[in-house]
Amino acid sequence: MSVLDRIELHQGDLTRLEVDAIVNAANSTLLGGGGVDGAIHRAAGPQLLAECRTLGGCPTGEARLTRGYRLPAPWVIHTVGPVYRGAPDDPRLLADCYRNSLELAAAHQLRRIAFPAISCGVYSYPIEEAAPIALETTCAFLRRHPLPARVVFVLFSPEYYRVYQQELARLREKDP
Ligand code: APR
Repeated sequence: MSVLDRIELHQGDLTRLEVDAIVNAANSTLLGGGGVDGAIHRAAGPQLLAECRTLGGCPTGEARLTRGYRLPAPWVIHTVGPVYRGAPDDPRLLADCYRNSLELAAAHQLRRIAFPAISCGVYSYPIEEAAPIALETTCAFLRRHPLPARVVFVLFSPEYYRVYQQELARLREKDP
């Protein structure tokens, strides 16, 4: 079975997914913001912010786990993506977000997790550059770990969904 069989794409709102954990594209304060961060805090309710306050922030590329409170998902993995600068470090930091979030999910025996397109909104990472990093980093992790069993990439727009679809098709050609 190819690791690609453990990857799903979904177009829609990440906050509504019934998975074990959704991944938040947060900022380093972990105190909320706009975009998917704002949507997650609104859906989870004020207890999420209260727990985030106890974490003391999160450096770019790292990940932290909290409960999901009023979200359908019982857990939230908060990760902080790089602000796109076209710098050599950008791809490594973005890959770290996916890898560290997956490590956290595996460490807590979570079976299904869902990612947004980290850094591809306010942080301006071009989706065409970010999608291969997200998918290749995830595949490399899944080859070495039985958990999480499934990873869902949730895209908010049809355009972004199509970019991921094309990238996944490219990977399938390489690894039938
Ligand atoms: N479900 C799924 N995806 C969403 C949702 C949602 N409800 N809302 C937004 N998105 C998408 C955006 O369209 C984008 O493709 O998530 C992707 C990430 O965009 P942002 O949420 O802007 O995150 P990011 O680019 O990583 O910027 C992080 O924005 O919200 C602030 O506090 C956050 O400062 C941090 C910065």
